[in-house]
Amino acid sequence: MIKKCLFPAAGYGTRFLPATKAMPKEMLPVVNKPLIQYGVEEALDAGLTEISIVTGRGKRALEDHFDISYELENQIKGTDKEKYLVGIRKLLDECSFSYTRQTEMKGLGHAILTGRPLIGDEPFAVVLADDLCVNLEGDGVLTQMVKLYKQYRCTIVAIQEVDPQETNKYGVIAGDLIGDDLYRVRNMVEKPKPEDAPSNLAIIGRYILTPDIFKLIEETEPGKGGEIQITDALMKQAQDGCVIAYKFKGTRFDCGGAEGYIEATNFCFEHFYKTGKAY
Ligand code: UTP
Repeated sequence: MIKKCLFPAAGYGTRFLPATKAMPKEMLPVVNKPLIQYGVEEALDAGLTEISIVTGRGKRALEDHFDISYELENQIKGTDKEKYLVGIRKLLDECSFSYTRQTEMKGLGHAILTGRPLIGDEPFAVVLADDLCVNLEGDGVLTQMVKLYKQYRCTIVAIQEVDPQETNKYGVIAGDLIGDDLYRVRNMVEKPKPEDAPSNLAIIGRYILTPDIFKLIEETEPGKGGEIQITDALMKQAQDGCVIAYKFKGTRFDCGGAEGYIEATNFCFEHFYKTGKAY
């Protein structure tokens, strides 16, 4: 039912400079796979096969990654190195990839609006690839969210409890508990100071959005630094009772910064690489 997954990947990645000066943040390897590949694998697991990526200047490596490299294929054909390409080949076989460019980096809301021609008028998922999400116990985070969407048919945002001192890094929600780990969102604040935060439930980089979000983003005035925040548009949906926040099962690593990136690397090395599940 939901087939499309949008990856906003046009940001500058300033927290990871100078590594991200000429290389997309989304191509940073976590052990042996770039961040974005983990995201696309999670999307495919959830049945989302139409992958749309919002890129920008200096991001061509993303397109090359999701394409055949004939020289490489030719070189390793018939050797035992072929196993390294099994995972990426599966993605190329089972998913389609389309791209559009955000020419001015005017924030996540603006990046999502830039993806509108690729999405059209249907519900879709959004993955911020620098949030790496894993669940060793069962369904991936997007799979959990797609199941919820089938039940509630409204926008779903993934949340996690964060240290109350860190609310100023996130969009933070206030809501009414309506089920296990489920809140109907009443209010949302973008990057509140700890003393102003309505809770410590922070939105992370997984969303399922209904297509009316595009019009709401269009109507959103740019905020700090001229950026159009997605939180403002979500807030308008929430006022109509149409946003559910879901405390997902699993772990999320903030790979946009060094600490989370190193944690993710250690985790993936231990649980995927050493156990032979890394390809
Ligand atoms: P971030 O807030 O992580 O920004 O964006 P960033 O620029 O990538 O990284 P820092 O903070 O400077 O280190 C969240 C997501 O939204 C995308 C980013 O690529 C990232 O996946 N984004 C952000 C865009 O696509 N366009 C934008 O204008 C802003």
